[in-house]
Amino acid sequence: MAEVSFKNISKIYDDVDKERGRKKAVDDISLTVEDKEFMVLVGPSGCGKSTLLRMVAGLEDISEGTLSIDGKRMNELSPRDRDIAMVFQNYALYPHMTVYDNMAFGLKLKHFSKTEIKQRVMQTAQLLEIEDELYRKPKTLSGGQRQRVAIGRAIIRRPKVFLFDEPLSNLDAKLRSQMRIELQKLHRKIDATMIYVTHDQTEAMTLGHRIAVLNKGKLMQVDTPLHLYNNPANKFVAGFIGSPAMNFLNGTIELDGNYYFMHTPEKWRIDLGLEISIALQKYIGKEIQIGIRPEDIFVPDDPAIPGDCRFRVTAYENMGNEQLVYLSMGEQSIIARRPPADTLEIGKDIAVSFSQDKIIFIDAFDERIR
Ligand SMILES: Nc1ncnc2c1ncn2[C@@H]1O[C@H](COP(=O)(O)OP(=O)(O)OP(=O)(O)O)[C@@H](O)[C@H]1O
Ligand SMILES: [Mg+2]
Repeated sequence: MAEVSFKNISKIYDDVDKERGRKKAVDDISLTVEDKEFMVLVGPSGCGKSTLLRMVAGLEDISEGTLSIDGKRMNELSPRDRDIAMVFQNYALYPHMTVYDNMAFGLKLKHFSKTEIKQRVMQTAQLLEIEDELYRKPKTLSGGQRQRVAIGRAIIRRPKVFLFDEPLSNLDAKLRSQMRIELQKLHRKIDATMIYVTHDQTEAMTLGHRIAVLNKGKLMQVDTPLHLYNNPANKFVAGFIGSPAMNFLNGTIELDGNYYFMHTPEKWRIDLGLEISIALQKYIGKEIQIGIRPEDIFVPDDPAIPGDCRFRVTAYENMGNEQLVYLSMGEQSIIARRPPADTLEIGKDIAVSFSQDKIIFIDAFDERIR
């Protein structure tokens, strides 16, 4: 069992971000990571991910709040009494030791018997498929192999909780996607609670049971990958999760019998269904934004087909399985996603439509209206 609970956790570094006027690197975060859960912490650089993780590991003091594991307060415990292992981005392997000794090191310190050590090293090496590398030194290994050794060194101790701080960011794209699959397999095999930090939303989407999205030290939303994608709570999450990112357009909500969104400054309109009218009532005449994902914008092949509004095709990219269409109107640029084709003419105007039920509405405070 290992349930990790954060209760109103904050971190105040003495000199944190004075120039940006921010006082807290981590700001009042409450979150429970369930036993055996794979929780991903995601957010832009500087949002406090590593700080949060380091507080769990005991490498950083907790300024405010309570951290507990299985109900037991951890704040004052030293790192080695927390039964936690952490894997860092830069592996931090001992260069003069073989892979075997790197993995065995922690167990030796804990006075495990030689037989026990050997058994665990072999078992771990097998799990990570590095049996043939055991007597090599780290510098002779590939990036992926080194990363495996670093993970091996963590799991060999069989801790209750694993912490990963961007463990794949030094690897090339192909190896990264391979290691993502490996990590999923590993999690299934060892059945431990894992907290995994990344700023890569693909990694977050593919690895996490749940994802916690952070911004400027604050927790924006915690949910399963699909829920986050389909039901972002605010503009930040909507824009952060998904690639290419969600498109945002400014305008006002108007009423002339029916509700419609009027884009400013170009003044085209999208008629909105009755169903959403209650949520939008109090926004009539007010500035809002709408958000729409690239796949929810319909771009016809034929410029003569009518649509919600006319955009100019500025470029398109055929990715093989899909096409990204870059569209602009005045200052505004949006990206649409559709099946690949060679029919669009660059520089021509085309009428695009938005899937009405997929539009999200965002208020002046970047919170979701609906
Ligand atoms: N030891 C420190 N002293 C003062 N400020 C710090 C310290 N460590 C981090 N910070 C600040 O705290 C904030 C959060 O940093 P943190 O390293 O947790 O971000 P992060 O989300 O891990 O970013 P990245 O994706 O770049 O690794 C940043 O503004 C950073 O400058
Ligand atoms: Mg970091």
